[in-house]
Amino acid sequence: MPGLLYSFAFFLQLVHIGYGDLSYSIPEEMKPGSVIGNIARDLGLSVEKLSARKARIDSELNRKRYCDIKINNGDLIVAERIDREALCGEKASCLIKSEIILEAPLELHRIVLQIHDINDNPPLFAKDEIKIEINELAVKGSRFRLLEAHDQDIGQNALQSYELQMNSYLELRTQSKKDGGMFAELVLVKELDREEEQQLRLLVSALDGGIPKRTGTATVHVTVLDANDNSPVFNQAVYEAVIPENAPLDTVVIKVTASDADAGLNGDVTYEISRISEGGRRVFALNHTTGEIKVIGHLDFEEESVYEMRVDAKDGYGLSSDSKVIIELSDVNDNPPGISMKSMNNPIPENVSPGTEVGIINVQDRDFEINGQVRCSIQQGVPFKLVSSIKNYYSLVTTGQLDRELVTDYNITITATDEGSPPLSSSKTVQLSVADINDNPPVFEEQSYSAYVSENNKPGSTLCSVTARDPDWRQNGTVIYSLLPGEVNGAPVSSYLSVNGDTGVIHAVRSFDYEQFRSFKVHVMARDNGSPPLSSNVSVSVFISDVNDNSPQILYPAPEGSSFMTELVPKAAHGGSLVSKVIAVDADSGQNAWLSYHIVKSTDPGLFSIGLHSGEIRTQRDISESDSMKQNLIVSVKDNGQPSLSATCAMYLLISDNLAEVPELKDISYDEKNSKLTSYLIIALVSVSTFFLTFIIIILGVRFCRRRKPRLLFDGAVAIPSAYLPPNYADVDGTGTLRSTYNYDAYLTTGSRTSDFKFVSSYNDNTLPADQTLKKSPSDFDKMFSMSDESPKVGRIFIVFK
Ligand SMILES: *[C@@H]1O[C@H](CO)[C@@H](O)[C@H](O)[C@H]1NC(C)=O
Ligand SMILES: *[C@@H]1O[C@H](CO)[C@@H](O)[C@H](O)[C@H]1NC(C)=O
Ligand SMILES: *[C@@H]1O[C@H](CO)[C@@H](O)[C@H](O)[C@H]1NC(C)=O
Repeated sequence: MPGLLYSFAFFLQLVHIGYGDLSYSIPEEMKPGSVIGNIARDLGLSVEKLSARKARIDSELNRKRYCDIKINNGDLIVAERIDREALCGEKASCLIKSEIILEAPLELHRIVLQIHDINDNPPLFAKDEIKIEINELAVKGSRFRLLEAHDQDIGQNALQSYELQMNSYLELRTQSKKDGGMFAELVLVKELDREEEQQLRLLVSALDGGIPKRTGTATVHVTVLDANDNSPVFNQAVYEAVIPENAPLDTVVIKVTASDADAGLNGDVTYEISRISEGGRRVFALNHTTGEIKVIGHLDFEEESVYEMRVDAKDGYGLSSDSKVIIELSDVNDNPPGISMKSMNNPIPENVSPGTEVGIINVQDRDFEINGQVRCSIQQGVPFKLVSSIKNYYSLVTTGQLDRELVTDYNITITATDEGSPPLSSSKTVQLSVADINDNPPVFEEQSYSAYVSENNKPGSTLCSVTARDPDWRQNGTVIYSLLPGEVNGAPVSSYLSVNGDTGVIHAVRSFDYEQFRSFKVHVMARDNGSPPLSSNVSVSVFISDVNDNSPQILYPAPEGSSFMTELVPKAAHGGSLVSKVIAVDADSGQNAWLSYHIVKSTDPGLFSIGLHSGEIRTQRDISESDSMKQNLIVSVKDNGQPSLSATCAMYLLISDNLAEVPELKDISYDEKNSKLTSYLIIALVSVSTFFLTFIIIILGVRFCRRRKPRLLFDGAVAIPSAYLPPNYADVDGTGTLRSTYNYDAYLTTGSRTSDFKFVSSYNDNTLPADQTLKKSPSDFDKMFSMSDESPKVGRIFIVFK
């Protein structure tokens, strides 16, 4: 056998049938695994490409796969025994058609295997012994039909000749038949004599034309008879019938008839099937007496569509003749189309562009011609369509943009309908999932966030929380919060706030001070966990509200201990005269900085009063001689917070017109302990008073001469120039009532029309920023003094200890 295969090796040749078709010619009965050809080479593809494109052999639905591809080298190999006789019977050309599928892009190449016959079957006689009866009166030249031998091979390998054992009575002649076979006849060349020879035994051989030849033999048993006889004769040489494949059992397909000229037993004809295929034997049966052929099994056009059989007719003596019966089945649309998924990208990423091939679908219908033509469709309303690519193949293609956040999976129903009547259809549903792509950044629920917190908050307290949503899947939709780096008042934002990465809750890191800053803004970022991650940010404004945490601070009079001041009140002062003023500030704002002044203790309770909000100290009545010269007041300053805070100060007043009384001042100070200081005090007081008075007299003298208008000597009341006050200072109209434009920035209580140089300058030096320093020029003083028309006539003197 290997030698035989070897001798057929030259049949292996490659024939291209048009573009993309490969044709190979091979002998039948090659061992499974034998190489037929190389697909990679013949398609001009590299082996890597071949495997990358998932090359595979696709044989038709439910049919055997005779060849396969070795993906590691591209060889086309025999996969199963190929028996030409079983596949094609007596057909002259035997073709096996398969298809090679390549994906991306989908490509289909047809492979045609042309199967060559090898001489693997000898010619065979239907029976080992052939009985022939010859009348002794038969004349020379009489012909006797032999049973035909049959060789399943075709062409040269089929039956070619018969040979008969040498004898003196009979010769063998061969004759071709109408239906293509070849039969042999025995021709009588010498009369028989029953008395000489009652029977003959001769060996007949049938030979085919293969290399080497194969033979089949049978014995011809010739009986010499006394009487004459006629063989039965079929009324047709070939019977043909066509029945639908769905013909029910017991359907009579055809009736064969043979007649015999003899009467009696000699004329009784019986029928017999002498040769039939395995499949045919299962589905057809011949009635021996009537010659009717009936359906006894299930017919299937798709399995076998033509049956051929040989029928013998025999008479009582055993004389016979034969005929051929060909039964063809006609196709009925009895197979719905089959749908198979050849490949499927599942899941598909949501960002694939419209027109992307998602899967390949193959539809097949085993029926013939129009019954096997299939149309394929999918349901409406999904962003997919079927594109017919090559015969019976469809690509499933996206028609629009997919969005996993809207639809996560699709059930796609593919319906295939054939063109038969009535049409048959089938459908298949495939579930297609859409895979997530990180295409949505987190989105904050609000445009911006605000948090309100009272100052002096505890570090770690919760201010507010931010929330962002991301509709993506799993980590692509997991939101992490963080603070964007930045600065607040020169310090990194992280020293003020922290944000919980998981919950978005914002905590204060430190305690805030309203007096330092009232609000600040930070940015919080929400980032998802995709790769690459997407993010968005939002601003968070933190507003700090005031708490009454600063007590009023008294600027004038200066706190005890560091300086000592006293005021002079002229004896002539009338009731209502402005004597002095307590000036206090509060670092808080609003109500927390709205100050009120109260006298809590005084030497003479009826003599002085203080403006509730102005802090101005005025005489309540005219000074009388009986009033004590030294008057002390304890003033308390309170803010309006809840609870309110307060501060107190002492004010020393001296009712006197005469500086000579000043030495007694030392008794005024309750706290004066240092006797040395007392003498300094006196010296300083005297010299300052002298200097002051001289100065005032000179100035007033100059003015008096110029205006010729009588003026009081001690018109010391001056206004605090507006440049002295902070720009946002709000005047209190002298009544202590705040204006309707309530100003949080006001931190200094009203300045009255009274002031003095010492105070101004000391206040300037210690409290005001350098650029707001009061500029004193002679004309400024000029103006100051000219504004004092309605002022009470009050003089004062300062003594400052440093
Ligand atoms: C698809 O079919 C499956 C099972 O048949 C079902 O559970 C699912 O809900 C269907 N999906 C859609 C989008 O119809
Ligand atoms: C997230 O998105 C990326 C692409 O942006 C994708 O590769 C990944 O599979 C997605 N993750 C999940 C859990 O879906
Ligand atoms: C914050 O968001 C704005 C727009 O929403 C963007 O222009 C800016 O670049 C973002 N900043 C950072 C640091 O991501």
